[in-house]
Amino acid sequence: MKTAFDLEDYLAAEGARVESALARSVEALHGRLDEDVRLALGHGVLSGGKRIRPILCVTAYRAAGGTACDERIYDLAASLELIHAYSLMHDDLPCMDDAELRRGKHTTHRAHGEDLTTRAGAALIPAAALQAWTAAEAMGCDQATRARVVRALMEAAGGGGMVGGQWLDLDAEGRSLGADELDGLHRRKTGALLTASLVMGAEAAGAPPEVRASLQGYGRAIGLAFQIADDILDATSTVEALGKHPSDAHLEKSTYVSVYGLAEAERHARAQVEEACGVLRDGGVEAPALEALARFVVDRQH
Ligand code: IPE
Ligand code: IPE
Ligand code: MG
Ligand code: MG
Ligand code: MG
Repeated sequence: MKTAFDLEDYLAAEGARVESALARSVEALHGRLDEDVRLALGHGVLSGGKRIRPILCVTAYRAAGGTACDERIYDLAASLELIHAYSLMHDDLPCMDDAELRRGKHTTHRAHGEDLTTRAGAALIPAAALQAWTAAEAMGCDQATRARVVRALMEAAGGGGMVGGQWLDLDAEGRSLGADELDGLHRRKTGALLTASLVMGAEAAGAPPEVRASLQGYGRAIGLAFQIADDILDATSTVEALGKHPSDAHLEKSTYVSVYGLAEAERHARAQVEEACGVLRDGGVEAPALEALARFVVDRQH
């Protein structure tokens, strides 16, 4: 008899291993950064969060047949979270979303100041690239694979991905985007790094092209769904439940909810989840954890 996949247990167990990897990452920077910068960096990296990107990376690695399921794959996966943490530290700065709360705590600049937060965020970019390279090397990946892994991470983080999406996001404040522009914005600012999570796991496992393509397609679909869900939660949840302040409406952001309305935004997000699961099935990737994670993207409460 097929038993239901227990996502709650899975997230708790995988999340704990990601936390340990992140603690190793911050510890490894000891002596390489001014201590006040490292403390600000620690605030941004170690103050909670769902850790969905590294969990997706490790899950994709296993789904693609990867067998080095020890600290090394978590170190590789944690490199994604270092980029994500930096993106949030900068996203919250006064020159961007000017946020005071993140994960129910003071944002990094509210606790450590703008100067240190800017520097700590910048320091995380090369730290992430180096960590991805070193971890892939420790896993025994050959040089070409290591290069593809780091390239996937840096491309997703850059102007064609997260950073570019963040520029569009700020540029769109106070005006309403068209459907294609909004999709492009979401796919870049959030979708790119989520897609890279799957691709990096597939590459590290040495997945054949069709499996890699299937995991990438899944990542692209849940990446878009993830930011739509973020927009929906922003519009419907509370500061207490989300641990974030202020809201998109306050910032006059162009979001899926402001452009399409709530019901249509929900429909779009769920359609992307179905698309993601369909792409997996079509590619012959049997991974109950990935199907459960896709549903979690739209069913989550924060
Ligand atoms: C929030 O990301 C910002 C987006 C890119 C949508 P998460 O919802 O993954 O934030 P944490 O890391 O779990 O706090
Ligand atoms: C942020 O999007 C996306 C990033 C790349 C950091 P948001 O500005 O909507 O993220 P939250 O809602 O502050 O977490
Ligand atoms: Mg933002
Ligand atoms: Mg924000
Ligand atoms: Mg948001």
